[in-house]
This record gives sequence, structure tokens and C-alpha cells, in this order.
Amino acid sequence: MCGIVAYVGDRTAYPILIKGLQRLEYRGYDSAGIALFNGEGARVYKCKGKVKDLQALVRDKEVGGSIGMGHTRWATHGEPSDANAHPHASMHGTFHVVHNGIIENHVHLRSELARRGYAFRSETDTEVLANLIEDVYREQGVSAELAVRLALTRVVGAYGLVILCEDEPGRLIAARKGSPLVIGVGEGEYFLASDAMPIIEYTDRVIYMNDEEVAVITPDALDLKDLYNDVKTPEIKTIKLSIENVDKGEFAHFMLKEIHEQPFSVTDTFRGRVAAGGDKIVLGGILDVMPRLVEARRVIIVACGTSWHAALVGEYLFEKYARVPVEVEYASEFRYRDPIVDEGDLVIAISQSGETADTLAAIRRVKGTGATRLGICNVAGSSVSRETDAGVYTRAGIEIGVASTKAFTSQITVLAMMAFLLGSKRRTLPADEYRELVTGLTRVPEMIAGVLEQEAKIKEIAHLYKDAPNALFLGRGILFPVALEGALKLKEISYIHAEGYPAAEMKHGPIALVDERMPVFALATSDHLYEKTAGNIQEVKARGGKVIAIATRGNEEIRGLADQVIEIPPCHEALSPLLAVIPLQLFAYHVAVARGCNVDQPRNLAKSVTVE
Ligand code: G6P
Repeated sequence: MCGIVAYVGDRTAYPILIKGLQRLEYRGYDSAGIALFNGEGARVYKCKGKVKDLQALVRDKEVGGSIGMGHTRWATHGEPSDANAHPHASMHGTFHVVHNGIIENHVHLRSELARRGYAFRSETDTEVLANLIEDVYREQGVSAELAVRLALTRVVGAYGLVILCEDEPGRLIAARKGSPLVIGVGEGEYFLASDAMPIIEYTDRVIYMNDEEVAVITPDALDLKDLYNDVKTPEIKTIKLSIENVDKGEFAHFMLKEIHEQPFSVTDTFRGRVAAGGDKIVLGGILDVMPRLVEARRVIIVACGTSWHAALVGEYLFEKYARVPVEVEYASEFRYRDPIVDEGDLVIAISQSGETADTLAAIRRVKGTGATRLGICNVAGSSVSRETDAGVYTRAGIEIGVASTKAFTSQITVLAMMAFLLGSKRRTLPADEYRELVTGLTRVPEMIAGVLEQEAKIKEIAHLYKDAPNALFLGRGILFPVALEGALKLKEISYIHAEGYPAAEMKHGPIALVDERMPVFALATSDHLYEKTAGNIQEVKARGGKVIAIATRGNEEIRGLADQVIEIPPCHEALSPLLAVIPLQLFAYHVAVARGCNVDQPRNLAKSVTVE
């Protein structure tokens, strides 16, 4: 979603901003802009389109100045257009603002400002904010910083903001509520960004701003306060990301690289947490709350998108092995219900980014209920990880492709470890089965590598079906969420309409769509539901449908049933989602490439959805 990058120091800001915007492209956006300051007023360049369009726009233009801010916009209020792109200036040109998030009371503020004589050039909520700050500044004769703080107390909604006041050049003002902002600390310079990506090549020392904090930043100093003027002490952290992590290497796309990283990312997820002999799992991040977890009467998992699919896999694992009832909730629905939650509950938020607005709101919704709140996040230091009582990092490494792949398998790996551990502590999982499951988990990476070796065959199948108008993904039991994930991957990046369904449920609707043009993926591994799924395959075939089966190696019968078969190695049923999803990721990828789609930045999608 929207991205912010800004610089204060003695270097020329322009190349830092452009590179920063390129590093933020993965978040998804539709327009880009920069403002540059050299002490004689701002130069603002912005346009609809990509960063390369912005670069073309500024070619031959003056790009000096050692202070600047840049923005990639993902439209919320107003279509993607030059006028709606950030930065936005206030009416009299005193303030320039880049903003992530949504100002919810912008309609009310806009009409109030209009009555006071303010005119607007864009349809954005951000321009309303720029004018609100300017109005406070002019009316009350206060400093720019105080004007920002006073204006923000009137704002309902979420913001990550960088602001420059033309009357006070040489400094940037940053503010955060609900939408992340990271400050990179250099020597005589500071970097600001909505995530660490644009910062890591300059410094590994960062400050994560907290909600309702305002920072005034010059090349030599950073003053941090809350909205109400209380001085805050910035906490500098060291981040471990390096620039190699954010390169595509030999791969054509980040998504393909991330699919192929899964043998390593899953290993990183369990490394040091699972004992070699398979008799012990240690999850340091939840040790302190373990007694509460063992006693939990119910688990509620909140998440969005792919993380929600991982949560559904978690439901099967927790119920089967820890024998605790589980509810999986869309975070966006849960936050606005009146959920019944008490101290017997364990609420788990799953989020790759740890910044998804709805997931964050869901975890805040249950604060004060007595429930134990856990986070399963990939990004260290993210909001979800900071606002939960405890948690487990997935350690998948940075994920850049908008369509999530390795984060999904790492989330399932964490959920599996938690379920097995709780099952063992609650004595619902016998010791020998526990050992078998843990040992099985440690073998998953080599099995994923084996599935990846079938890429050429999967690519061929993808080319057979690349022009299909629709696709159906069927699964049962623990593979039903994988069917949902396979459909999501395909629709996200290839724009083919796809649906995931519980295989038996097909008869209650989707079977009406089946014809020779519709590929039907059947997740038909040799588990306790295999015979049932095989029956569903027959039903599709009887109606002229094309079936691609994901089956367990050694199953010869399935060749007579399906049009194409992709094999996964035999493994414990509980771990089969980690293998069965790989061919579906590769299929979606190769279909999207064959259709000429922008795999890493699919239209309209954002990597981190920081608005609700
Ligand atoms: C967006 C991304 C998805 C992701 C979802 C939830 O829709 O495009 O890939 O699954 O957000 O994100 P989270 O960071 O909370 O896992």
C-alpha cells in the first residue's frame, strides 16, 4: 500500500528518494511523487503511474536539495491521477505533506475548511490535512510543530506523515498513528520510511515510531514527543536485514525466488526450535505465557488474506492435536462484531507484515478482556508483534512478491509447532505420535525441494490452461484451506476467476460451472479422505471437466482418473499442506507469466494493507 520515504542530511536527497521509492514498489501503488527542498522553497514533481514515469517527468529538471520526501500512492480517496498523487501542498503553499492511512473525518474537516475560505486541488483526505495544519498555523501563530500536533488532535483515522513547513526549512516533521513509520539513524542524517526497505542500505539503526508520536528531525537532532507535548525517548534498534535479501538474484521475479526459497525459509522457521531427535519443541517467544496457553479453553485466530488460510490449517492442527476448540475469524469482521472473549481464550493474530490494519484492530479489540494475545508475524518489530502479549516470529525472511508464498508455509510451520507442543503439554498427543510429527516436520524442507523439481512439468500444465476463464480448486480436511490458497494465488496474479471449495460442497453450486474449459484442481493426497476426494473427481470427469490432481507419489489409480497428475512425496497428513501448496504456487506463477501479467505487482493489490 502507500509508501513513504524521506531524507534529511547533507547528501543530495533526489537519488535516495528515487531508490527508496523503487524499494517500496513491492507494496503496490498507482502514482508517485517527490518534494525537494534546497532552502529556497520546494519543488514538487508527481504523476500517475510508476516510479519510472516520475523519473521521466523530472528528467532535465532541477533536482538539488538535501531534504526531501517521496511517496507512492495506492488510491483510497479519489482515482489515481496527477492531482491526487502526493506530496500535497496546503492552499497557501506553507506545508507539504506525504501521508499513508485514511483521515476518516475528512468530509467534515473539508467542509469546515471550505467555509473558512480554503480551496482544494485534489480529492484526497491528505490535502484536507495539509490545509488543516496550515489553518491552525496561521490562526494561532504557533510553530509548525505545534500546529501539526494541534491539528492531529482533531483528526480521526490513521496516519503515517512526513511534513515540511516552508517557513522552517531544514527540518522534517513526522507523525504516526496506526500507519507505520521507521526512522533510520545515520551520522548527521536521518532517513524516514514506511518500512525499513528504503533504509537498510544506509544504516541498520532504526527507531520505530509509536502511535501518537511526533518527531522533529534536522540533520543533527531528533526530538520526539507525543501529541500532547510529553517528551519521549527514542529507542534505537538494530535491524538484521541486508541488501542482498532484497535482490531477485537469478530469478525473473521475486515471487519465483520466494517460492524456491521455501526449503530454506521453512528450515529457518523451525531451526533451533525443534530438537534433532524429534522429542522437543522450544518456542522462546511464548515460554512466559505457556501455562495460560495450556489452560486455554478456546483459541480464536484472526487474520486476513493468505494468513487467514494459514489460520484455517491451524484450526485443524490445534483441534486434532491439542484438542482445543478453535474459531478462525476474518479480522475485518471480528473487529466490528461484539465477540464474546474472556480470560479463558487465546487470541492469535497471524500477519506476515504485522501491519495489516484489520488484524491490528482485531487484536486491539480484545485488549482488556483477559484473553492472552499472541502474534505470529514475519516482520520483527512490527505493530502486531509489539501489541501482543507474546508471539512467535515466522523467520521466513523478507517477502517482496505481493502474492504471499514463503510466508504461508512458515506460518503453517509455526502453527504446527505450536499445536504439537500444546498437544504434548495438554497430554492430548501421545509421545510417539508427537515424535513422529516433529521428525516429519524436519523432513519437510527436503520434500519441498523435491516438489520444486517438478517445475518444468507444472509450467507445461500452466501453459495448457493459461486461457481458461475460470478455475476451481477442491480439497478436503486440512487440504481445504490449501484449495482456497491455490485459488487466491491464481486470481491475484493472473486475473483468472478462481474459487476454492471443500470438495464435497462442489455439488451445491460450482458443479454447474464445470465444462471442458474449466480446470479443476483436486487435492487428492493419500489421506483418510482420499476415497471421498476420488469420488468428487469422478463427478467432475462425468461432466466433461478437466482435472489436475495433486496426489501422493505411488498412487497409480489416480492416473486413470485425472487428466494431469502432480506428485508430492508421502508425508504425514498433518504436514501435507506444506507440500500440496507448492505446485499451486508454481502453477499460478507460470500462468501469470504466460499471460504477460506483472507477477510481483499485480494490479490493485498491495503487499501490506494498512487501511481497513
Ligand atoms: C494483502 C497481501 C496478502 C496478505 C494479506 C494479509 O492482501 O497482498 O498477500 O496475505 O494482505 O497480510 P498480512 O501481512 O497481515 O499477512
